[in-house]
Amino acid sequence: RGLSVDGFSGLIRDVADFPKPGILFKDVMPMLADGPAFAAAVAAMAAPWRDARLGAVAGVEARGFIFGAAMARELGVGFVPVRKPGKLPGEVHEIAYALEYGSDRLQVQRGALAPGDRVLLVDDVLATGGTLAAAASLLAGLEVELAGGAVLIELAALGGRARWTSASPLLATLRY
Ligand code: PRP
Ligand code: MG
Repeated sequence: RGLSVDGFSGLIRDVADFPKPGILFKDVMPMLADGPAFAAAVAAMAAPWRDARLGAVAGVEARGFIFGAAMARELGVGFVPVRKPGKLPGEVHEIAYALEYGSDRLQVQRGALAPGDRVLLVDDVLATGGTLAAAASLLAGLEVELAGGAVLIELAALGGRARWTSASPLLATLRY
């Protein structure tokens, strides 16, 4: 038996005014550094998806790699990285999305996901929802089925869930 939710959520540290004044940052690094806590967090994130017939897990650079790759192993499927621009060799699919200041892009390798694959999209935190919505739009342009989204933490006050327009479920393990 692993740790309860309280057993790992207690290792997520609140950091005021990071990365900018007025932002209360959820630092998952102490939780990641604790073996049983990390394992319990990944098991809790993965539990709802065990019977979801997934073909792959896609994780968003950078912190989505940590949880996405661990979940892929937990669920016995492959992992596909959704990366910031210029990191993936060969042909890529790309989406541009707006940030608070400026814009950014996300890329996934062409052919990394097989047509018809049921893909679970993973990130650590849902804040304004811009990152996960962009990644979902990127996958929507491919011939795959979005099985859903999974985040460890939803910052509910920021309303990011409203930007998840897929009919598939978006599940958060912890909500603040
Ligand atoms: C952080 C976090 C999420 C995103 C959530 O990523 O890991 O990916 O912001 O914010 P949003 O819902 O408002 O889009 P960030 O790119 O800051 O850092 P990372 O590279 O460490 O993941
Ligand atoms: Mg991130």
